Amino acid sequence: MKKILTWIKPTGLGMHIWNYLWAFKPFLELAEGKEAYMFIPDLHSLTSVHDGEILRKNKERLLKEFFALLPNDSNITVFEQSKIKRVNDITWILSSVTPYSLMLRAHSFKDSNNKNSEVNMATFNYPILMTSDIISYDVDLVPVWKDQVQHMEFVRDIAGNFNKTYKQDFFKLPEYSIDKKLMTIPGTDGRKMSKSYDNFIWIFDSEKVMKKKVMSIVTDDTPLEDPKDPETCNVFALIKFFASIERQDDIAVKYKAGNYGYGHAKLELLEIILEYFKEAREKFASFANDMTYINEKLKEGNQRWNEMADKKYEELIKIVGLN
Ligand code: TRP
Repeated sequence: MKKILTWIKPTGLGMHIWNYLWAFKPFLELAEGKEAYMFIPDLHSLTSVHDGEILRKNKERLLKEFFALLPNDSNITVFEQSKIKRVNDITWILSSVTPYSLMLRAHSFKDSNNKNSEVNMATFNYPILMTSDIISYDVDLVPVWKDQVQHMEFVRDIAGNFNKTYKQDFFKLPEYSIDKKLMTIPGTDGRKMSKSYDNFIWIFDSEKVMKKKVMSIVTDDTPLEDPKDPETCNVFALIKFFASIERQDDIAVKYKAGNYGYGHAKLELLEIILEYFKEAREKFASFANDMTYINEKLKEGNQRWNEMADKKYEELIKIVGLN
């Protein structure tokens, strides 16, 4: 069975509908019939978050949102990077053969270096730890967005360089795939939904906040009575992602008939989004003061990846002569 791995970063921002549509939902679909893993690269967060309380909070929020969205019967195993004991040991061994000149080319390092701030060593080593995440088990495929392509090439170079140094195909070089169907979806200001514009609709906002966001979506000034073109409307573009075909058709007819205002459309959109995420929002609320389910799942996931990484490590130390 093919093994796939994805990740979700504890940025503290929470899940918005765009992340859900382009990353979360496609991964659920890709995971069908495969051995699928999702992990939280919390060690990587240490390179930029230097406040324990903040990191802890971000992580907890992310876990609640993630498990709220994950169907209970999902085949995806979730684990935490910082709980995988051998990942750092593997990182050290890889560091011992990875050329400095290769590492100087990494974006993660170059970007931080250009910002004139002090670059910490972990930022410099970032791609090596990322390599360990993936090759501590023989992952076949990592689906990525294009900002991670260089990182994935690094992973292949670092693992390939180890194999070359020790003259054996010990680490599997992971494939990566970029979802070419990746859509852009309009944000509340009509521009594409993006971090740089802060125009997201968040999945777990209160109904009140979500309503305010939805009602603020930019539309043109066609008067209420006039017929409207659904295909050029930001509200309808969002409706299309979440409503059934029948409901979409029904709403399109109303647009074209006139006497249906953008305010009406927005209220329908709000209802559609709330309905779509109803179960997830209820689950999220149930996690508010109770992490028991999440902690149990994580314990299982951590144990599972630890067992595999331990095995890989046992073989690795024989190859390099530590055992
Ligand atoms: N580099 C990823 C990011 O910036 C995070 C990451 C760390 C990762 N380790 C990984 C992604 C292993 C995929 C596989 O978001």
